[in-house]
Amino acid sequence: MKCAELFSVAGQSAIVTGAGSGLGLAIAEALAENGARVVLLDVDAGRIAAESARLAGRGYAVRGAVVDVSDHAALERAFDAAVASHGRLDIVFANAGIDSGPGFVSGWFGARTRNPAGALESYSDERWNRVIDVNLTGVFATLRAAARIMKPQRSGRLIVTTSVAGYQCEPAIGSAYMAAKAGAAHLMRCVAQELAAFNITVNAIAPGFFVTNIGGGHAHNPEVQRAMAQVMPMHRVGFPGDIKGLALFLASPASAYLTGQQITIDGGWTLGPAD
Ligand SMILES: NC(=O)c1ccc[n+]([C@@H]2O[C@H](COP(=O)([O-])OP(=O)(O)OC[C@H]3O[C@@H](n4cnc5c(N)ncnc54)[C@H](O)[C@@H]3O)[C@@H](O)[C@H]2O)c1
Repeated sequence: MKCAELFSVAGQSAIVTGAGSGLGLAIAEALAENGARVVLLDVDAGRIAAESARLAGRGYAVRGAVVDVSDHAALERAFDAAVASHGRLDIVFANAGIDSGPGFVSGWFGARTRNPAGALESYSDERWNRVIDVNLTGVFATLRAAARIMKPQRSGRLIVTTSVAGYQCEPAIGSAYMAAKAGAAHLMRCVAQELAAFNITVNAIAPGFFVTNIGGGHAHNPEVQRAMAQVMPMHRVGFPGDIKGLALFLASPASAYLTGQQITIDGGWTLGPAD
């Protein structure tokens, strides 16, 4: 098979959650730019309308819908609507996610001090539950909605956005976020085992530090980017476009025999600082 065919998603039917911004938007863009028909789902009505109109304006086969992944009935309806218009469902990215507020230290670099607002005893049930609802249960609901459609097809690609914070503790990040991401990674493995016999692959992308709007968009601050770049072996932070190649690989025939794997994409961050 030639490379162009091996990595092709042309004509495939795809859904991306959290597609109104950041990594989900870049993933939806990569799929659409390569000929897939993509449904962009996001809880943010303004963003999803603007971004799906922008991509449709470039001639791509995209449609946007407002869906909160913690509303499981709405999620199921959105999946049914995608199948109704595309006739099938080939690729699903369970990408939607939120941050969980501060961790037990403030700041990502420099003098780190204890932050009582992020301490375990300050964690409210409400904060814990919302992060788990979106970042873990939302992934479960997305994978379940996809499995219902993909099993009878006996084919599909499921890709979960996890995080390096799911396997490496980062004290500036709230613990609910890290626990949810660790849970999503292991859920991905269990579902991969269950669905392998149906020719459905299930994998995860674990990003490091990317410039997106999560956490109030602090990563857009050039000072933050400069400081983070110093601890990155590649000497730079990630930008949403950096995710496109890996997303296409996991969505395409090129990854047909790969399942249950979490692939880190972090410019070498988790290797530890270099020079
Ligand atoms: N940016 C990073 O450095 C980084 C690192 C590791 C993992 N991630 C993960 O990447 C994924 C995408 O985040 P991002 O960094 O692109 O952030 P982002 O805020 O730019 O984009 C996330 C999108 O998800 C949407 N969303 C939030 N809650 C939702 C819900 N309940 N239902 C549907 N949509 C919802 C938001 O409206 C937003 O458009 C998340 O799962 C995040 O945890 C990001």
